[in-house]
Amino acid sequence: MKILITGGAGFIGSAIIKGLQQQNNEIFVIDNLSFGKRSFVNIPDTHFYEEDILNRQEISLIFKTVQPDIVIHLAAIHFIPYCNKHPFESSQINIQGTANVLDAIADNNINVKKVFFASTAAVYPITDGLISETNPTGPLDIYGLSKLTGERLCNEFHLKTAVPTIICRFFNAFGPNETNPHLIPEIQKQLLNGTRTIALGNLTPKRDFIHTYDMARAVQMLLESDFNGIDTFNLGRGIEYSVTEIVEAFERQLGEKIVVQIDPARVRKVERMHLLADVSKLKSIGWVPEWDIDRGIKTLLDQEVNLNV
Ligand SMILES: NC(=O)c1ccc[n+]([C@@H]2O[C@H](COP(=O)([O-])OP(=O)(O)OC[C@H]3O[C@@H](n4cnc5c(N)ncnc54)[C@H](O)[C@@H]3O)[C@@H](O)[C@H]2O)c1
Repeated sequence: MKILITGGAGFIGSAIIKGLQQQNNEIFVIDNLSFGKRSFVNIPDTHFYEEDILNRQEISLIFKTVQPDIVIHLAAIHFIPYCNKHPFESSQINIQGTANVLDAIADNNINVKKVFFASTAAVYPITDGLISETNPTGPLDIYGLSKLTGERLCNEFHLKTAVPTIICRFFNAFGPNETNPHLIPEIQKQLLNGTRTIALGNLTPKRDFIHTYDMARAVQMLLESDFNGIDTFNLGRGIEYSVTEIVEAFERQLGEKIVVQIDPARVRKVERMHLLADVSKLKSIGWVPEWDIDRGIKTLLDQEVNLNV
């Protein structure tokens, strides 16, 4: 299969590509390298387009040239504090950029067999229990709103083209090649600097952390599934961990005590206390997560030489 991945040089994209390459797919990437790194993906330069998804004409031309069988659209501005600081830039990329990618398929009548869109748990409002795909949406921030709009664009695209379309709401990813200063890479970075006293913000909020290896397997299974319409899936681990529990997981792997100091600059004034995926729909297609938090954190600490955070 020819698979074209926007944002493929990013954190999650690089994990997905590794999995797809093991199945002998031919991978093409569009990425402007604003957050991603060329070195994260092992594909020839002829298959790597360093391009901005806002450049509508160029994107259309790339799709006409590549004629992909499958399109995985990941390119986005994703780090919420960055989106809050740059609401117009991030929403333009996440909305107009998504429209450009979908139009490049529709307007050129490209014979695409499946489209995969990376959405986010940030489309959901604050909720304390398990969140299933049928929960009402209600984003808290510009990032969640821009991704929800991306989902609507996918709906319109599917109605127009009938191309099978998968919307996948990612929860909190962790693993190698992180590009943004999220909680786990932040702890990883401070510990790998040699300190055992780390500075963090709120310690009680819980998040559903899923390793990118398991995410990549889920994406692969969804792409392989026999399905024709448009559907939405949560992609998380189905277990939530507080910040304190994540620190404890690092302690277990280090075999050392970690002292946490609260840095007022990192404390969010308004915070979701829970974000937990109901992943029963994804599990119903046969996906089972394999990496638990300890195994994932162990590899992050083993990986000092490859530290990219
Ligand atoms: N990391 C998470 O926990 C998480 C959670 C929910 C959803 N997501 C979504 O998953 C996708 C991948 O996220 P990630 O964590 O790998 O982030 P990332 O920033 O590492 O990857 C995004 C990639 O898109 C590229 N990009 C950004 N703007 C672009 C533009 N205008 N044109 C071309 N390329 C552009 C970046 O260079 C980067 O390589 C995103 O759509 C994100 O919103 C991620």
